[in-house]
Amino acid sequence: QGSKLWGGRFVGDTDPIMEKFNASIAYDKRMWDADIRGSKAYAKALEKAKLVTAEEKDNILHGMDQIHDEWAKGVFEVKPGDEDIHTANERRLKELIGEPAGKLHTGRSRNDQVVTDMRLWLRDAISILKGNSLQLITTMVERAAVEIDVLFPGYTHMQRAQPIRWSHWILSHAVALSRDVEQLQEINRRVNVLPLGSGAIAGTPFNIDREMLRQELAFDDISINSMDATGQRDFIAEFLFWASLCLTHLSKMAEDLMLYSTKEFSFLTLSDAYSTGSSLMPQKKNADSLELIRSKAGRVFGRCAGFLMTLKGLPSTYNKDLQEDKEAMFDCFDTVHAVLQVTTGVVSTLKINPSVMEAALSPDMLATDLAYYLVRKGVPFRDAHGISGKAVFLAESKSIPLNQLTVEDLRTASPLFSSDVSAVWDYSSSVEQYSAPGGTAKSSVAAQVEYMRTWLKKQ
Ligand code: ARG
Repeated sequence: QGSKLWGGRFVGDTDPIMEKFNASIAYDKRMWDADIRGSKAYAKALEKAKLVTAEEKDNILHGMDQIHDEWAKGVFEVKPGDEDIHTANERRLKELIGEPAGKLHTGRSRNDQVVTDMRLWLRDAISILKGNSLQLITTMVERAAVEIDVLFPGYTHMQRAQPIRWSHWILSHAVALSRDVEQLQEINRRVNVLPLGSGAIAGTPFNIDREMLRQELAFDDISINSMDATGQRDFIAEFLFWASLCLTHLSKMAEDLMLYSTKEFSFLTLSDAYSTGSSLMPQKKNADSLELIRSKAGRVFGRCAGFLMTLKGLPSTYNKDLQEDKEAMFDCFDTVHAVLQVTTGVVSTLKINPSVMEAALSPDMLATDLAYYLVRKGVPFRDAHGISGKAVFLAESKSIPLNQLTVEDLRTASPLFSSDVSAVWDYSSSVEQYSAPGGTAKSSVAAQVEYMRTWLKKQ
């Protein structure tokens, strides 16, 4: 192990199984660019602290640029002893520029290096996910604007509840996603903090200008405490939780869409581009896109729960357990990245069947409106609810739709019913009552569209 970066005190070789068990290069090489950015900034801080000469710094920067090129071209050769991206890049630097490479790690530890890399990487990943989310939300909001006149049944407990606008349904999911975007930005504030200059645990004994490092790497702040900076992964846990909640929202939407796309509902048809067939049943068109969106929530949840388990019970500061953070972070990024794009595709290409949707409305869904009719005549809501319930019972026992009850039938429940009750049996005027902000009236849904458009412009 003498050849290893930390091999000085070791005798003999690492067991090959241990070597593989210990290594993270297979996945942390994804952070090659961040690692190089961090090292270049650090070389400048070393020069400022007079720990390397200007010439040595230039050599390091030049060597790092060459390594950058190798990674970018896909020709960087990972060698057997390369434990992780940090050791790989440093090993290569030494091969390229010789001795000054050995000065680069002065006062630095992989403990502050790895979290610097991860924060740089995650910052970029967050900006990509934000872009994906905004694209999806835009697609949904514009679809809601176009299809604002379509009515269909709203469900609670998966039972027929009240008539609503299809756009109201779309926006209900878009609004949840807008909270996800806001939360992502919140998280980014805590991601965008520089840990470099914390060393392994105690800080740096050299004149490393951390403020300069912050500026070089465009972080908003520098970490407050070196032990916390190297030993905490709150920013990863927050990201994993974010991914879990975001996919919970998309899973819910996917589940609704799956139901609406069944033959029994036929409210909408998924584009062939997002459906698959059966190897046995020729007639099948399966909503695999939606099922996978739903399933990925479970996967991301698992990553989040798994990593929290890893954190639980750790003593303070860096422990190798923390290396588990990276696969969780990468996998959640890849998963959410794919899900957001597929969802955008599904939502922008599905076709709704407005006549089927409206035909699915039934008079019983206006029982609440029947109660409101009485409320408007001065009946306390609790009593009105009871009277309307009696009317529902009466219609059911006569096996007729609620709106087929005669005024005389209704009068057996309350003398306040008169011929103007016929106005209740109109789905369009029903939804138009819900004009308070947030409701399903056209004006209210249009206001929600406008609100979301303004919100999108501010992002
Ligand atoms: N590959 C390691 C990780 O991902 C880098 C930090 C190693 N630090 C150490 N003290 N062994 O966590």
